[in-house]
Amino acid sequence: MSLSFLITGVAGFLGSHLSEALLELGHSVTGIDNFDPFYNENIKRRNLNNSLTYSLFTFIKADITVQSDLEKISGNFDFVIHIAAKAGVLPSIKNPLDYVSVNITGTMNVLEFMKSRSIKKYVFASSSSIYGNNKEVPFKEDQKVDGPISPYAFSKRSCELMNYTYHTLYNISCLNLRLFTLYGPRQRPDLSIHKFTRLIESGQAIEMYGDGSTARDYTHVTDVVNGFISAINFVSSHEKVYEIINIGNRNPVKLKDLIKTIYESLKVEPNIIQLPEQPGDVDITYADISKAKILLDYNPKMNFSDGIKGFVSWYEENKDFLK
Ligand SMILES: NC(=O)c1ccc[n+]([C@@H]2O[C@H](COP(=O)([O-])OP(=O)(O)OC[C@H]3O[C@@H](n4cnc5c(N)ncnc54)[C@H](O)[C@@H]3O)[C@@H](O)[C@H]2O)c1
Repeated sequence: MSLSFLITGVAGFLGSHLSEALLELGHSVTGIDNFDPFYNENIKRRNLNNSLTYSLFTFIKADITVQSDLEKISGNFDFVIHIAAKAGVLPSIKNPLDYVSVNITGTMNVLEFMKSRSIKKYVFASSSSIYGNNKEVPFKEDQKVDGPISPYAFSKRSCELMNYTYHTLYNISCLNLRLFTLYGPRQRPDLSIHKFTRLIESGQAIEMYGDGSTARDYTHVTDVVNGFISAINFVSSHEKVYEIINIGNRNPVKLKDLIKTIYESLKVEPNIIQLPEQPGDVDITYADISKAKILLDYNPKMNFSDGIKGFVSWYEENKDFLK
């Protein structure tokens, strides 16, 4: 059955991939984005190119912090997929108010929009940052998460709580997907895989915070998109659900191994400057994905070194535009 989706943050890394996947399945997608200046607007505009080739795609420039922008959106939607956010942990420590405005107030506006249009199906892009420096790994959804160590992390946890309130009050079915560091073509330029590739490829030094033993559960964007599609199917086939589900890769990679995999793919020796660990950065992210397996039949497939090779090829093909 063909469904009608509203995707927020459609011009970003994840939003643009998910939009293409839903269009390819024959659904209609209205995507909104304000081209937030966190990174280059031209990169975001180019992310939309594939979606724009589908007649079932509509793009609207709109800011989720501006209620009147949302009120102007026409059409009936079966689903809202809320991806727009101020992303990034360290910038949230520098500019916490921006994160409260976009991630918390913006999400409240999206929920109010859903209430006013009687939209009952909702998937939210949450984050593994919510687990903070939890010593118990892998991270499980029922773990205590009252120790966020960055404004970004508390903003995402606040959203999960607001989503629960709207689920209860207005019968909105909601899946909060806690995402673990995404990578793949179009990855945000501020994220380590993209940043290290750019710097190593152009012969510049890279900064490694700590001794390289911190680890991230890098998850390929194709696996994350499949997780979203399964989440959409789950919401479609259940009445009034609310769940929090990890979408990770259950395979943490150490920072020093990540750097090695990138420079071996690029075939360029890196110049590494070691610096102290940064506040707000967690030591490890590591997803327990058993709940995703049971409820969503989620099973990430991308092998890490193949995923990095794919990213490096994409970067090499697009580097003149991206620099
Ligand atoms: N990339 C990751 O590793 C990761 C990990 C965990 C969670 N997430 C979450 O997944 C989502 C997507 O991340 P991404 O890496 O694709 O980020 P991204 O920055 O590439 O995409 C976010 C998009 O939201 C848009 N946006 C920002 N503020 C907006 C506003 N006020 N109104 C409308 N649009 C706005 C931006 O312009 C951007 O295009 C975010 O919610 C992020 O917090 C990402």
